Amino acid sequence: MKHYFLLFCVMLAVAGHAQNSSGSNRAINEKFILTPKPSAKPRLNNALVYGCRPGNAFLYRIPCQGERPLRFSAKGLPAGLTLDEDSGIIRGAAPARGTYRIVLKAKNKKGKASRTFEIISGDKIGLTPPMGWNDWYAHYDRISDKLMREAADLIVSTGMADVGYAYVNIDDCWAVSTPNNKAMKKDDGTRYGTPRKPDGTILPNVHFPDMKRMTDYIHSKGLKAGIYSSPGPRTCMGFTGSYGHEKQDAEQYAKWGFDFLKYDWCSYGSVVGKDRSLAAFQKPYKQMGDILKNIDRDIFYNLCQYGYGESWKWAASIGGNSWRTAGDLGIKELDKIFDIALRNASFREYNKPGEWNDPDYISIGYIGSNQDRGAPKPTPMGPWLQYSYMSLWSLMAAPLFYGGDLSRLDDFTLGILCNPEIIAINQDPLGQCARVIMHGDKQFIMVKDLYDGSKAVGLFNREKRPVEVRATWEEIGLRGKRKIRDAWRQRDLGTFTNELRSTIPAQGCLVVKISKR
Ligand code: GLA
Repeated sequence: MKHYFLLFCVMLAVAGHAQNSSGSNRAINEKFILTPKPSAKPRLNNALVYGCRPGNAFLYRIPCQGERPLRFSAKGLPAGLTLDEDSGIIRGAAPARGTYRIVLKAKNKKGKASRTFEIISGDKIGLTPPMGWNDWYAHYDRISDKLMREAADLIVSTGMADVGYAYVNIDDCWAVSTPNNKAMKKDDGTRYGTPRKPDGTILPNVHFPDMKRMTDYIHSKGLKAGIYSSPGPRTCMGFTGSYGHEKQDAEQYAKWGFDFLKYDWCSYGSVVGKDRSLAAFQKPYKQMGDILKNIDRDIFYNLCQYGYGESWKWAASIGGNSWRTAGDLGIKELDKIFDIALRNASFREYNKPGEWNDPDYISIGYIGSNQDRGAPKPTPMGPWLQYSYMSLWSLMAAPLFYGGDLSRLDDFTLGILCNPEIIAINQDPLGQCARVIMHGDKQFIMVKDLYDGSKAVGLFNREKRPVEVRATWEEIGLRGKRKIRDAWRQRDLGTFTNELRSTIPAQGCLVVKISKR
């Protein structure tokens, strides 16, 4: 009896806690920050595993929060790699095939931290979902070398790099456009030019005067650089595509120092015509997959073909590291975030280390709309919907690419993007996409197994009013007493038996980690 009373009190506490944060007195759009401010003490936030290919260039900035200056050390670093003890950047050539167990350490005036790091040198890269930023929804056809460099600076100065964001990716519009390009929002004529040199080498437009110097700059911060192309003759915005120049382009991207390729179907439809067969969908992607496999550089390969031919079923077999499972998320779709996530999660069996379902970018903060491709504006999503968005992407082990304007991040948006306990769920070495258990149409829970035997569980409520959600041990696959920790608030909630009940705010969530035993 006493036991049940205790359980009841804890349930009330969780429910109350969730309600306080939903703010019964708070206006629906009033922002509130769940993520605690990082401590001044060091906190290492590296993913526990990292994949590379033997002999290729290696670059890794150890994500670590805490007051600077920090001093880093790494025990067990293989020969060929060196650590800069002040910046925490590891550079060199990837070691021979094998698994290397390393202990990373960081210290500052306030304390020290230590965390394991396993480098797995073999055939696979992207062993945890890639994290970074992509310019599309922020800059569209305004993107430039200058904006890319600024983005790299901001990823460091905002603290995003300290929780693991690493890729700085250019999207469309860096190459050369045809004149009078109707797709461009503000065509000032500066993006026209000669698409290729006489020998076929692809040329950037004047806004990218020196690609190699740009990637050098991004790499100097320990970050990685991404580029974009299409297997068709033209990109979606009408810029030079790789059709007929695939190998030459891939080699050029490697020479320029890129670490990521987004390969976007776009005008490839004009090549295949009416042929909508599986072979037609696969052909250009397999071709590029084979080329990248034989290039001496680790280039993460992102298929962007909106899921044609059920790409989740075959994209990994042709060398893909991630593949979009749907069309563009865009701003108009944002209220459908739950549908997009539930559909993406239905492909969970295809999600594995190095092989990721990609439901598109995290479009919060200041973000552009595909409708007008104008200047970024504040997201129309309410605060809880934004917490749900990031929670869904983390539980699904989806790539975490921020899509908004980095120069206009506020503490609220940074709190959503940079909670290390939520990110650790996303970056878990098992690489599992959560399974979904529907509770009617509007509430559901997500359960994700973690490498240490614990589970991450999300309780979600799509309704526009708070609703109690009850997650039972039976459906989660647990027995007995379990310790529960609220991942957003980074707070222990106590020990629970048989179930977790909580009143979930309108369009909101509760994300917890449930201990192994
Ligand atoms: C497609 C892609 C988007 C973006 C644009 C660029 O729509 O799905 O993510 O890359 O092309 O033109």
